[in-house]
Amino acid sequence: MLTLQKVTKVFNDTIVLNEINLEVKKGSIALLLGSSGVGKSTLLRILCGLETIDSGTILLDEAPLAKKLHSIGMVFQQFNLFSHLTVIQNITFPLEKVLGYSHKTAQLLALELLHKYDLADKATLCIKRLSGGQKQRLALIRTLALKPTVVCFDEPTSALDPILTTQVAETIAQLAHDQFTIVVTTHDTMLVEKLPCTIYLMKKGSILESASSYEYLKNPERFTHINNFIKGHQIEIEKNHFKPDL
Ligand SMILES: Nc1ncnc2c1ncn2[C@@H]1O[C@H](COP(=O)(O)OP(=O)(O)OP(=O)(O)O)[C@@H](O)[C@H]1O
Ligand SMILES: [Mg+2]
Repeated sequence: MLTLQKVTKVFNDTIVLNEINLEVKKGSIALLLGSSGVGKSTLLRILCGLETIDSGTILLDEAPLAKKLHSIGMVFQQFNLFSHLTVIQNITFPLEKVLGYSHKTAQLLALELLHKYDLADKATLCIKRLSGGQKQRLALIRTLALKPTVVCFDEPTSALDPILTTQVAETIAQLAHDQFTIVVTTHDTMLVEKLPCTIYLMKKGSILESASSYEYLKNPERFTHINNFIKGHQIEIEKNHFKPDL
């Protein structure tokens, strides 16, 4: 279980995360929902050790997270792939350099994952030949190859069309089913419908409201803030979609 207790982060006198409490059980998905700038990515960057906290505690299976950073995997919004390497080298490079795997062992694991996620035929291509959805899958494979127990996704569907969004949601749901602990940030309200998760609506560095997606979808009116956020977004999307050509 991943446990955050009163986690606070300050950037230049601005409180970006304000006493965040969160519990994510093994095999479950926490969906951090909220407008731009509320602190979603900062929270993920803290979890994977890219930022420190100013106060509070983070535990993974009751041990301080700092001792278990290797257990946290991160799939970045911009994927952060190595553009000068091929698809398979993007997976084998960290395995050899970070985990000290032999080249052969790294190749075997990479190929197994490429097959599993339907990218084996792209193994020797360079990154710029991949579509957005394929880059996303490769970023996930590279993360999974390092054998994390917690996987964080920062805006996993921001660059994807609705069909790919559904595929990504299915992949994330499957990872939870396979007993990974998952934290996802998004302002894509479609994910709420597609992921069996606990929704945490963030506002100005705090968690304003939470709900299981099942309970929320059964009775949206019960969760005023989440409902307003989701409805507000849908209205915005519809307004933009139906904007007449002038
Ligand atoms: N390294 C930094 N130094 C100073 N301020 C920062 C730093 N990183 C983030 N911030 C600020 O912290 C706030 C939260 O940023 P964050 O990236 O976590 O938001 P977000 O919820 O992920 O937004 P978005 O939906 O646009 O990705 C913002 O006001 C941002 O400017
Ligand atoms: Mg962000």
